[in-house]
Amino acid sequence: MTDIAPLRLGIAGLGTVGVGVVKIVRKHAKLIEERCGRPVTITAVAARNRAKDRGVDLSPYEWEDDPVALAARDDVDVYVELMGGSDGPAKASVEAAIAAGKHVVTANKALLAHHGQAIAEAAEAAGIVLRFEAAVAGGIPVIKALTEGLAGNEITRVMGVMNGTCNYILTRMQATRQGYDVLFDEAAKLGYLEADPQLDVGGIDAGHKLSLLSAIAFGTQVNFDAVELEGITRITLADIEQAADMGYRIKLLGVAQTTGRGLEQRMSPCLVPSNSPLGQLEGGTNMVVIEGDSVGQIVMRGAGAGEGPTASAVMGDVMDIARGITISTFGKPATKLAPAVPAKATVPAAFYLRMTLQDKPGALAKVAQVLGDAGVSINRMRQYGHDETVAPVIIVTHKCSRAAIDQALAGLGGTGVVAGEPVAIRIEAV
Ligand code: HSE
Repeated sequence: MTDIAPLRLGIAGLGTVGVGVVKIVRKHAKLIEERCGRPVTITAVAARNRAKDRGVDLSPYEWEDDPVALAARDDVDVYVELMGGSDGPAKASVEAAIAAGKHVVTANKALLAHHGQAIAEAAEAAGIVLRFEAAVAGGIPVIKALTEGLAGNEITRVMGVMNGTCNYILTRMQATRQGYDVLFDEAAKLGYLEADPQLDVGGIDAGHKLSLLSAIAFGTQVNFDAVELEGITRITLADIEQAADMGYRIKLLGVAQTTGRGLEQRMSPCLVPSNSPLGQLEGGTNMVVIEGDSVGQIVMRGAGAGEGPTASAVMGDVMDIARGITISTFGKPATKLAPAVPAKATVPAAFYLRMTLQDKPGALAKVAQVLGDAGVSINRMRQYGHDETVAPVIIVTHKCSRAAIDQALAGLGGTGVVAGEPVAIRIEAV
C-alpha cells in the first residue's frame, strides 16, 4: 500500500494481553495502516516459556529470551511491555528501552505507580513517548480522555470502580446471597484473581490505577504511598443486604480530589446510591467518573480486563506513536509535576454504621448519646429483626468528618450495649 517505513514492535510478555496485541496487529493490519499512514509490524517477542502453545503463530517473529535485549534491538521502534511487576525484568527492560531511544507502551500499573516519576522523567529527557492506557481500567480509554479530550478542564474529582474482580465478588454476593469466601473461591475458579489475590481484594491493583489517574488529573507526581487503601475482605453479606435496604450498593471505589487540605486519594469500600451509574455497575466491569469545571461529569464504562479490551488499549497507544503523536506521559512535562501533598483529612461525608445492640431498655439512647457527643448527627436509622438478645441496627449519619466517626466508634465500646465491632462505611456523594 505504501512505502513508508513500518513502526516495528518488540513485545515482551505473551500472556492474555500480549497474545491479544499480536492478534490485533494481524487482523487489522490494513485498517491500522490506513489510519496511521504507515504499517505497524512485530519484529520480535519475548516471554518466559518459548515452548508454550499460545494459540497464535509466533513463527514470523524473532524470539528473545531476555526482554532487556528485546528492548534495545536496532530493529525495534516501540517496546511493548506486557509482563507486569513493579520491579525486576519489567523495570529493567523499560529503562533499557528508554536508554536505547525506543518508545514504550506498557500495561504495567504497578511499575508506574512505584516508579512513574523517574520513568517519565527519563523518557522525556530521552525524547521518547511512554504511554500506558492499558494500565488503567483495561479497555476504557481514560488516560486519553484525561490527557487529551478533557485537557482544557480543571479536573475537580476522579472516581471509579477499577478492579473488576472486586466488583464481581461484591455484586455476586448480593445476587446469590452468599458470603465473601464463597464468591472469592468462585472468582478464583474463573481465573479472575491476580497471582497474588491481595492485589485485587486488598485494593492494591485499583490503588495503583487511581494514583496514575490522580497524577494526570491534578498535575502531581505519582504518589501511590499516599493512597488510603482498604480492600473488600471485611465486607459481609449483611452489609451488602442492609446497605441495599437503605438504597445503596457497596463498591470498592477510588476517589481522588484536591481539597483545601491537599490531595485526597482513597481506594476503599464505599456506599453509592443504588440508582446511580456506579451503583448499577454489575460484574467484572469497570467504570470511571471524571468531573471537570467545564465539561461537568463524564461516565465511562467498559471491560477492565481481558484479552480484547486490554489489547485494544495497547493498540491505541501504539497507533498514536505510529501517527507521530507525542504527549507527555502524565499530560504535562514530568519535571513540571508538583509533589503530591497528601490531604490531612478526607472531605466530610455521610456514613453508614452497622452495629449489633443488646436488646434491652436504653441501649439505643446510649448509642445516640455517644454519636451526639462526637458531633455525629443521625439521618436515618433502622433496626432489624433480632434474636433473643441482640438486634442489628443500621444508622445513616448526616455529613461529618472521619475523625468524628472514629471518635464515635471508639466510644461505642464503652456503652456496654454494643456486641462485637461496629462497622463504618463512607457514603460517597456521586
Ligand atoms: N485484576 C484486575 C481486575 C485486572 O480484576 O480488574 C488487571 O488490572
